[in-house]
Amino acid sequence: MNTCSATDRILNFSAGPATLPESVLRQAQVDLFNIDGSGIGICEHSHRGPVFGRVLEEAVANCREVGQIPDDFEILFLQGGASMQFTMIPMNFMFEGQVANYLDTGVWTNKSIIEAKKIGPVHLAYDGSQTNYDHCPVDSEIDLASDASYMHFCSNNTIYGTRFKSVPKTDSPVICDMSSDMFSKPIDWDLYDMIYAGAQKNLGPSGVVLVVVRKSMLEKCSDNLPSLLNYNAVAKKGSMLNTPPTFGIYLMGEVFKWILSEGGLLEIDKRNSHKAGLIYNVLDSCPDFYTVFAQEESRSLMNISFKTISPELDAKLITEAGTVGMSGLKGHRDLGGIRASIYNAFPVDGCVRFAEFLQTFAANN
Ligand SMILES: Cc1ncc(COP(=O)(O)O)c(C=O)c1O
Repeated sequence: MNTCSATDRILNFSAGPATLPESVLRQAQVDLFNIDGSGIGICEHSHRGPVFGRVLEEAVANCREVGQIPDDFEILFLQGGASMQFTMIPMNFMFEGQVANYLDTGVWTNKSIIEAKKIGPVHLAYDGSQTNYDHCPVDSEIDLASDASYMHFCSNNTIYGTRFKSVPKTDSPVICDMSSDMFSKPIDWDLYDMIYAGAQKNLGPSGVVLVVVRKSMLEKCSDNLPSLLNYNAVAKKGSMLNTPPTFGIYLMGEVFKWILSEGGLLEIDKRNSHKAGLIYNVLDSCPDFYTVFAQEESRSLMNISFKTISPELDAKLITEAGTVGMSGLKGHRDLGGIRASIYNAFPVDGCVRFAEFLQTFAANN
């Protein structure tokens, strides 16, 4: 049998799909073959049978517990990636005679705006391209249209390594793309009407999207929408309008259990601050050598995007890191440089090792 021990695994700084907790992967190895002693693996069980029924029910319950999600929010597991939400949101929540406010803070919000414009009128309430997306705006920088259907923003910009410190204030419903920092810290649900997140960063494998939406929003969805693109229709069937992504839901459920076993989101948040601090401290201690892309007050705890003094040294850093078991550090093609993604499951020890590596690399070069 081909097994793999923790020592065979290298540090995976990939922005997503990204590293998952070891205990979750070990359990999945078992359950892939035979779950609950049923003699059948998780991918082979009917979605209508009792074993998957238990998996789904637990995933929803544990998701609610992890996020302290109030009962007036519905928890849905959808497909099509976070990008499908860029289309579904305007289809469901843009209404005649109203615009939707969009905050453009990077590549992904830009894509969401392009898709929304295909459905209806978009008001660009903030244009981050003017400052090369180097920060997330404070309220005074945002120009909201009044009486909007909703406001859409992205809490953490995976490519630029920027994040909102607080939720922008608005009178309209708030919809947030939390793909790259979902469940990295506690959430104040009073401030949101819908949050969505592609799983492949903090929650599980690609191919499943977590949507948490206020029940009062669901009542607005038109019956004329195609069923699979209608949040209300999917919610009425408990995410089982068609065959759901069973393995993705299973694995997300295991990640939720892992978060609870680690002490929940307060503990995870503390750990994430510590991890990011280790790396930012070294980058800040070598200001003549490293430049962090994000302005200080917008720095992400999940994605740290930076560069050295030349593209050649950036490439050298990535190559040398590869020789000591660190992968996935190449910056996004739109930004270049280096990006270290250190989501919930990325180990503290890995951040310590990377910080040491950065210190030595700066000294040697
Ligand atoms: C913030 C954010 N939103 C949306 C997406 C798109 O996700 P998907 O590829 O699942 O459609 C990504 C992908 O990395 C992302 O980082």
